[in-house]
Order: sequence, then structure tokens, then C-alpha cells
Amino acid sequence: MSDILKVGVVGVGHLGKEHARILSSMPEVELVGVADHNVAQVEAVAQCCGTRAFTDYRSLLPLVNAAIIVVPTTHHHHISVDFLKHCIPLLVEKPLAGIPHEAEELLELALQQEVTLQVGHIERFNPAFEELLNLPLRPKYITSERCGGFTGRSTDVGVVLDLMVHDLDLVLALVQAPIRSVQALGVSVLGGHEDVVQARVTFADGCVADFAASRINPVLSRKMQVWGAEGYAGIDFSCRRLTLMQPAVHMRQGRINSRRLDSATLTTLKAELFGKHLQTTERDCNNSSDQLTRELADFVRCVRTGQKPRVDGVAGCEAVKLAWQILGSLRSHAWEGDANGPCGPWQLPAPRGTLFDLPAQVAAA
Ligand SMILES: NC(=O)c1ccc[n+]([C@@H]2O[C@H](COP(=O)([O-])OP(=O)(O)OC[C@H]3O[C@@H](n4cnc5c(N)ncnc54)[C@H](O)[C@@H]3O)[C@@H](O)[C@H]2O)c1
Repeated sequence: MSDILKVGVVGVGHLGKEHARILSSMPEVELVGVADHNVAQVEAVAQCCGTRAFTDYRSLLPLVNAAIIVVPTTHHHHISVDFLKHCIPLLVEKPLAGIPHEAEELLELALQQEVTLQVGHIERFNPAFEELLNLPLRPKYITSERCGGFTGRSTDVGVVLDLMVHDLDLVLALVQAPIRSVQALGVSVLGGHEDVVQARVTFADGCVADFAASRINPVLSRKMQVWGAEGYAGIDFSCRRLTLMQPAVHMRQGRINSRRLDSATLTTLKAELFGKHLQTTERDCNNSSDQLTRELADFVRCVRTGQKPRVDGVAGCEAVKLAWQILGSLRSHAWEGDANGPCGPWQLPAPRGTLFDLPAQVAAA
């Protein structure tokens, strides 16, 4: 392989155009083309990035040494298969595929052809998460929340494969134990796939992870909290901030028992809790380049060296499999406690009425 890696991007919509922009500025890469069946979009992106536009991704097959697949999830499999059959290393956006057996097929094909298969679980490159992974914190209870408004994109899948899958991958990277059980419930509000989901995953080492995801939430939130015997870590993925809390030595040694304190000492304890007894620190992790650039740099490095990517095909497969366990559980959730009654995101119990009345002119609008 020459010094310059010839790369193509398939799908240059909301995210793919960013992949193309970054790749076009990487000195070790030549962006040889972008493909998208939206003619206006592909021509505009190609012009911006100084490369060629194609409306059929197959035109890239003879031109590239590596490709990035950034089409809607339900198209990942068939397009990726074509590239892998031509021994072309891939970075496939998350989730690796829409269904587990398609994800497994991609993994097997990549192994057979001995080519790099990386998955775009970009939060693994969030510096706050990277810092968390380096801490001696053994997770015992994890909560995650990934909520936002409706974007109009990713309507080919529900919120589990769209948003929650980020946190499923992160938790699978944090907890090195088999999954023991999965429970979930969810609701479809916009009429397609599920839009709001709550799930609980229990691991064989006793760790429990609660996941919340919504794509109809008025407020954007991407957060995770990890609790262990060592203390607590909270990540705000949007701000790339890590909050740590640990009991001070005298607390860990059990030298304070709040049940035995007189009221004056209790008042002092309350005032001095954070800092003296529970040590806290905030770490702003905004000290590295953006995550997409680092993810792409990891891909280029792995294609060149043959090293295993941080988020490989195995990790991508595991996240899709767990997502499907969650989908299976939420589809069978019985809202009235009866499997013959309303079950799953599309069948809710009959509503008792409206919660409030809107003024007539607003309701009519
Ligand atoms: N890692 C992340 O944080 C993140 C964020 C957003 C999206 N994504 C993933 O990226 C992928 C794309 O999402 P998006 O938001 O950019 O979607 P999008 O709808 O904005 O863009 C998808 C593009 O693919 C094109 N396309 C569709 N089918 C095609 C085909 N067969 N051949 C060529 N082009 C085709 C469409 O014309 C469109 O321009 C999804 O898998 C999504 O899950 C990941």
C-alpha cells in the first residue's frame, strides 16, 4: 500500500459530509470520492471537499483502499458486504447493522477477508469516557440517559438502535461480564419505531445498568453515572466533563456514623459533606481534538498497521445483539400485567382522557 490511503465515503448526509470534510484535510489520506444517491447533496459535498461525486457507491469499489459507510442503518449491511467482498477495510457508522445476523455476517466476512472492520461508536473517543476507563472504578450500578428532540433522521430504526446503542456499547466496554437478564419497556409516539425506552441490564458480576433514551425529549441530555465501592463518576458527554466523588479515608474506615451523631455535629457534617467527607473533583476534558477526527485517525492507523481498532466488529456485533434483547423485552412488556392485554410500544392501554384542554384556537391550528 502506498503512503497515501485512498478513501471513499458512502452517504454524505448529516454525518457523512463531516467524515468527508475531515478526511479531505488529513495529510495521509486522499479522499478519492464520495457517493450518495442524492445528486444535489453528493455534488455539493464533493465540490466542498475537492473530490469526485458518484451516485452509485459501486463506482468507488475499484478506486479505494478503505471506505466509510454513513448511510441509514438498514443499508449498512448490503453496502458493506460489497466492500468487504472486495477486501476493502471499512469504518461502518453505528450501529454496525440493523439486525444481529447481519452484523454477525459482516464480522465473519471481515475476519475471512482479513480486513479492518471498525464501528462508529464515537463516544468511545470522548475524552471524559477515556479518562473514566483509566480509573480504578469497578462499576456496580450504572445509569445512562441519552435524550433529545426529533431530528427527522434515522427513522428507519427506533431509539434503541439510534441513540441507546451508544450507551450499550459504552457499558459493554466498562463491564467485563456476561449478561444475565434484560428488562425493558418503551413507547412509540411518532407512529413508527419506539421513541422512548427504559431498559435494565443485569450482569453476571452483579452490576446493574439502567438505560434511558428518548428522541422526543424537549431537552438534550447525554449523561452517564457509574457507582462502585470506590466512589462515583458522572460523565456529561456533551460538555465532555467528568465529575468524580469518593469518600475520604475516615469515611471509608467507617469512622463516621450519622445515626450516632448529636444534632450540632450532624449540622456540621451536613455543611462539610462535600469536600471534607465526600471528596469531589470536576475534570474538564476538552483538551483533545474532536472525536470524529480521532475516530477517523484511529481507523486510518489500523488500516495501515493491521492493528485492532478500539471499536472493532466484535464490539459492534455485541451492541446490536444487546439492542435486540432490549427490543425483544420491550415488545413483550404487558402494560396491564397480562400477556393477552396491550403489550409493547404500539399497544398502550386505552387512555382515560386528556390531561388538559388547550384554548380552542391553539387546538385548531
Ligand atoms: N456516531 C454518531 O454519533 C452518529 C450520529 C448521527 C448518525 N450516525 C449514523 O450515521 C448513519 C447516517 O446517519 P445521518 O444522520 O447522516 O443520515 P442522513 O439521512 O442525514 O444521511 C444519509 C445519507 O445516505 C444517503 N443514502 C441512503 N441510501 C444510500 C445508498 N444506498 N447509496 C448511497 N447513499 C445513500 C442518503 O441520500 C443521505 O444523504 C446512520 O447509520 C446513523 O446511525 C451516527
